[in-house]
Amino acid sequence: MEKKEQLYEGKAKKVYATDDPELLIVSYKDDATAFNGKKKGTIAGKGIINNKMSNRLMARLEKEGVPTHFVEELNERETLVKKVKIVPLEVIVRNISTGSFSKRYGFPEGVVFDEPTVEYSYKNDELNDPLICDSHVLAMKLTTKEELQTIHDYALRVNEVLKAFWLSCGVTLVDFKLEFGRLADGTIILADEISPDTSRLWDAATGKKLDKDRFRQDLGGVEDAYQEIMGRLEAQLKA
Ligand code: ATP
Ligand code: TYD
Repeated sequence: MEKKEQLYEGKAKKVYATDDPELLIVSYKDDATAFNGKKKGTIAGKGIINNKMSNRLMARLEKEGVPTHFVEELNERETLVKKVKIVPLEVIVRNISTGSFSKRYGFPEGVVFDEPTVEYSYKNDELNDPLICDSHVLAMKLTTKEELQTIHDYALRVNEVLKAFWLSCGVTLVDFKLEFGRLADGTIILADEISPDTSRLWDAATGKKLDKDRFRQDLGGVEDAYQEIMGRLEAQLKA
């Protein structure tokens, strides 16, 4: 598949057209940002890890009944994906309180919820991706009622599958962000990425953070944590 013009350069990935109007190539960078781009840096080798990890996890999700954009890994940083129109929502699932949940509500960190939570942010950089409720999603026609139900159900299914998988790697899945999109025929599928950039992953035994929080919070050992989490995933897939 030939890489044609660059369509978009984001904070973490570049997106290219291909000769097939229904397919794109995404290329993962080592650039890291946090706090809506206010903190910038690089995490050496991150793009390679996120590309591979996202692909392995999406392949597993496909098998478990969640349709995804993943088509084929082309090389260590690039993947062929189905082109979608991104639904402008960040879909966040949480199993344990931390991050903006604890900050917003003044709620202690590390509380395990009885049931996972699902929330949406409106993807709009100028507005700082504000939290949005279902009725406002529908009022602005960002999705139909049926689409929002599908997105919600897929998000919980992704959580079930990934929570169990990460546990088998000795890792606690704390929370994560998903993006969904529509194929040309309107079908909703999972898009974007699933990686330590977009998930919180804690060592199940020690609670050590093995994700982008090491970068956000200047905890050090960022590259090592990405290597470690990828190593755990690969060992488990081989087992
Ligand atoms: P954004 O705030 O839009 O997420 P970003 O700079 O943080 O931007 P990157 O991950 O760097 O995001 O760039 C990837 C872009 O490609 C994102 O805008 C994402 O929504 C979009 N995208 C991901 N998967 C697909 C797909 N299958 N089809 C079309 N666009 C996609
Ligand atoms: P959250 O606690 O809402 O935000 P913050 O990182 O500002 O404390 O994040 C919940 C999860 O979603 C976390 O694993 C990071 C991920 N996430 C993203 O990948 N991108 C985003 O823009 C946001 C808001 C969260």
